[in-house]
Amino acid sequence: MERTFIAIKPDAVQRGLIGKIITRIEDKGFKIAGLKMIQVTEEIAAKHYAEHIGKPFYPDLVKFITSSPIIAMVVEGENAVAAMRQLMGKTNPANAEAGSIRADFSQEMSYNSIHGSDGPESAEREIAIYFKPEELCEKWQTMSEIMKARLEG
Ligand code: RTP
Ligand code: MG
Repeated sequence: MERTFIAIKPDAVQRGLIGKIITRIEDKGFKIAGLKMIQVTEEIAAKHYAEHIGKPFYPDLVKFITSSPIIAMVVEGENAVAAMRQLMGKTNPANAEAGSIRADFSQEMSYNSIHGSDGPESAEREIAIYFKPEELCEKWQTMSEIMKARLEG
């Protein structure tokens, strides 16, 4: 099983799309291993988007990502990094595949509703920026296991 870092960006949080976006992720069958709402600081933004420092769009990207809270998540499942990128669609919503999150929920490249790690190494790096190891939930006892244990006393 692979883990990836996903963020619901400020535009989607402000437009009340948290539930709809999480539903897409859950409907695909992925497990959420960690989740929190956070206000990204300039310091966190600089770590997260280190590869983009110096690019023309970087200042606006930081202004946007620090503008209001994001939902930070660790999403787990088969081939999670690439599969989540597919579920999200291309960076520019105008080119994103029909039915993808960016195609359905956003109009502009700068405000494209969701972030997902672009490879397993980025995923590991980004998860460590947003989550302490103990914030990721490992124990998932099923309801049948809980009820069996209750019967057995
Ligand atoms: P993300 O990191 O947010 O998942 O998006 P991505 O991998 O598809 O795109 P990336 O190249 O990492 O760019 C990060 C975010 O910066 C904004 N961007 N604007 N105006 C531009 O040329 C431009 N290029 C990138 C986008 O919001 C993109 O999601
Ligand atoms: Mg990226």
